[in-house]
Formats: sequence, structure tokens, C-alpha cells
Amino acid sequence: MKRLILLVGLFALGILAWAQPGMEYVVSTETTLAAVAQDVLGNPDFAPAIMRATNAKSLVDPSFLKISSLDMAIPAGAKLWIPDRTWAEAFMAFWDPNRPEDLFGGGKLVVGSWWTAGGEAEGLNALFKIYGEYFPDVQIVNATIAGGAGFVFRAVIKPRLIAGNPPDTFQLHAGLEVEGYSPETYLTPLDKLYEIEGWDKVLPKDLLDLLVYKGHYWGVPVNIHRANVLWYDKEIFEKYGLTPPKNWDEFFAICGKLKAEGVVPFVMGNAGGWEAAHLFETILVSTLGAEGYKGLWTGETPWTSEGVTKALEILKKILDYVNPDYAALSWDGAGEYLIAHKGAMMIMGDWTNGWFMSKGYEGYGWAPVPGTQGIFDALSDTFCLPKLAPHPINALGWLEVCGSKEGQIAFNTRKGSIPARTDLTPEEKAQFNPYLQSCMEDFARDAIVPSVIHGAAAIESWVTDFKDAVNLFLATKDVAGTQRALVEAAEAALAAMGK
Ligand code: BGC
Repeated sequence: MKRLILLVGLFALGILAWAQPGMEYVVSTETTLAAVAQDVLGNPDFAPAIMRATNAKSLVDPSFLKISSLDMAIPAGAKLWIPDRTWAEAFMAFWDPNRPEDLFGGGKLVVGSWWTAGGEAEGLNALFKIYGEYFPDVQIVNATIAGGAGFVFRAVIKPRLIAGNPPDTFQLHAGLEVEGYSPETYLTPLDKLYEIEGWDKVLPKDLLDLLVYKGHYWGVPVNIHRANVLWYDKEIFEKYGLTPPKNWDEFFAICGKLKAEGVVPFVMGNAGGWEAAHLFETILVSTLGAEGYKGLWTGETPWTSEGVTKALEILKKILDYVNPDYAALSWDGAGEYLIAHKGAMMIMGDWTNGWFMSKGYEGYGWAPVPGTQGIFDALSDTFCLPKLAPHPINALGWLEVCGSKEGQIAFNTRKGSIPARTDLTPEEKAQFNPYLQSCMEDFARDAIVPSVIHGAAAIESWVTDFKDAVNLFLATKDVAGTQRALVEAAEAALAAMGK
């Protein structure tokens, strides 16, 4: 019965299947919503679904009746929107009769995220703008908590979720990060929405696999980010006749040369306590290769491996060439070195591309992290639906904007990531900057591995242990001791995961 028989004007307004699938229906003689629901959908209980769908329509097209109550007399000639049956069933599953305001398409939408930096904020605002066009009566509350990679955000949101006071929707990395939120208790499975939207047909298989936890989808992805990118300032590279390093030997040769010239060879920030661990993750990809790195998180690659030792040695050596104020800077703060042509290279995820765009800086080049050619260290931002979301119906509209093509193009061209959807036309792809176009090609061609620092590869306790071990290493530079700590962290986490 999906997409019911008389589909007139499906997608009439573009994207919002959540608000749109169904048909126009003009009442011939005065009637009630329950009678219409019985007549058209075969069940009078679907009256609230018709009321909500018609009110949502009337917001953007006043020729539809604005319905003020469930038992209002519906006059002859009134135009209604009859949702298709699948939609109506999904709506009724989410609708709470104690919340009649959901039937008007008004109220609030509280969106939680950690997107406060340049590029991030612009991307989020682009999603808000689209949402506002479809649901102009909903007041959007932008509930951000600053702090890259969401470590601060998660620490704040988790107690709120447990206390029954969550936002309507919030940012969640695809992958094992969801385990930290006990989704079966606190989040709503989104399988039905995936089915209605057909998202399983337009999202890549690697991502779909990552999105399933305990048999369900818990988040709707807006993007795919790449973690293993080396950014460099073209002006410095040109001045000293350099080309992007393909391996660590070349990288250190460049570092030596630039240091002698008084240029900071490599910049990073670690004020958030995760940035150095991000760097280390990408080094592990280079020393272990795609399969070896993936195996670290499943128990197949021992943490005692030579590749782990080598990665620690590389990180130790990098510290000889890094900006001295790295502990005080965030990732974007560190990026200022490149913009000012004072620092030459930086390894960070491609939100840096969005940030550079927001700063109007065009003098940057990019390459895979040395030794990671052909490998794409991936992560994805999704939005979820807490079980106790105060405005769940509004949140569903939000999830739909996130999953839509229109939403993903508007968002990702600003955010510096590529759409999670794979069904973009060549014209649509042309709206993305050269970095992102190359990134789309790489994603389609490369071996995909899951990022650990950005929630994909491991449960939260393991991510924390990994991050803490790297941070301690920055001070001790003790390769053997740190490798031992990493081995212990893996043993504890794999045991907790029953492996
Ligand atoms: C998120 C990105 C964000 C970055 C920096 C990552 O974990 O996935 O969306 O831009 O952190 O905050």
C-alpha cells in the first residue's frame, strides 16, 4: 500500500515526503475528518493524520483548509491533503493525543549539535532555512554546545537524555557512538522512516552497514566526512618548491627544510583533547593499511603490531615540528597558521574545507595523509530522534530535510563534506567546490575505513581510552608504555563487546 493509489502531486513541493505523500481531496458535502478518513483511508482513526498533513500543506499553500480541531465541520468545497496510508500509520505511531499542538504544524524544534565553527554554522543554517520554508510556523531553537568532535556535547546531552529532558533531535555520529546513548531505552528506531523515504536505496552500502546498531537505524545521515586529509598552504609550498608528501619520509624531509627556513612545518591544535588522537588515527591507517587498521577495532589486528609501534614513532617525530602553542589551540585556531602563511601543513578532517571557505581562504591544497592513498577514513553526521523528544512530529520533518537531496546539497556545499546520498546528478555535483568533487570520486573508489575519534569504529569507552593514551603520550613520548596502554584499552573494550 506504499504511496497509495491516487497519488496526485506527490513531491509537489520538492522534497518533503514526510509532509507530502498523498493526494489532494476536495470535499463535496459538509463532513467530518473521521468520515473522510473512513472513506479514503478505510479507518476513522487516521483523522489526526489528515489534520496534520492538511495543516502542514496549508502553511505553504493557503488554498488548503486550515483545520483548527479534530471535530470541526469540514465545509463543502474545502481542500484537504490525504496522506498515504504508510505515512498515516507512521504518524499515528509517533503522535501523542496529549499533544494536540502537533496537529497544527507549529511549536518548537530544538536541534542539538556542536556545529559552531565557520562552515559548520553556515551548513546548519542552510538546513534551518529549508526547514523554515516547509514549516514556517515552527520555531527553531539552535541548541549548540561548542567543542569540536562533540566530546563536550556528548557529556552534556547524555544526562539530559537520561533525565528525560532531551532536545527534539541531536547530532550523532554514524557507527558505534550510538551505543553510548543506550538507544533501545532513549532513542526511537527510524526504520519506518527509512522505509517511507527509500533511504536504503540512495545511501551507500558501507554507510548503511554503519548506521545499523542492534538491528535498527537510529540516525539520518546528512553527510560523509573524510578524516585523513593533509591540508597545505600553496603559497609556502610554491615558495620552497615543495610537492605534497606521499609518504612519511617525504613528509619529514619537507618538515626539516621548512623548519630551517623558520616556517612552522606542521600545525595542530589539541585544546579539545581529541585533535592529536585524530592525527594518530590517520597515522595508524598509514602504517597498517585499510584491512590492518580496521582489524584493530574488531580484534583481528593485535595492538602489539609493529604498525602501532611505527605509528607512535611517527607521531613522536611530528612533535618536533609542530607549533609550540598547539595545546592552547582548537583545530580551527590551528588553521589560522595556514591562512597567515605561517604554518605549512595540517592534518584534520574535511570540515577544515568548510572552515576555509567560511574564511574566504582559497590558497590551500590537499592530499591524502602520507601513506593513505586509496584509503578513505570516513565518518558521518546523523540526527536522531529521542524517545522523549518534546516535539517529535516537528523532529520528523527535520529528519526528512536532513535526508533529502535539497537539504544535503545546501548543507554540504557549506559544511565541507559530501552528501551521504549517492543520487546526485552531474549538475548537482557541479555545485560543490573542487575539493569536494575530488572527495566524491575518492569515496566512490577508495577503500573505506571507519574513524574512531568520530564515533564510527568503536564504543565510547574505547574512544576515551584511546584518546587519553595519545594525550598522555604527548607529554611522555613513551612509545612502549603507550603501546601497552593501547593494548590494555583494546582488551577491555573487546571484552565489553563480547569479542
Ligand atoms: C563532526 C564534524 C565536525 C567536526 C569538528 C566531527 O566529529 O563529525 O561535523 O565539523 O567534528 O567539530
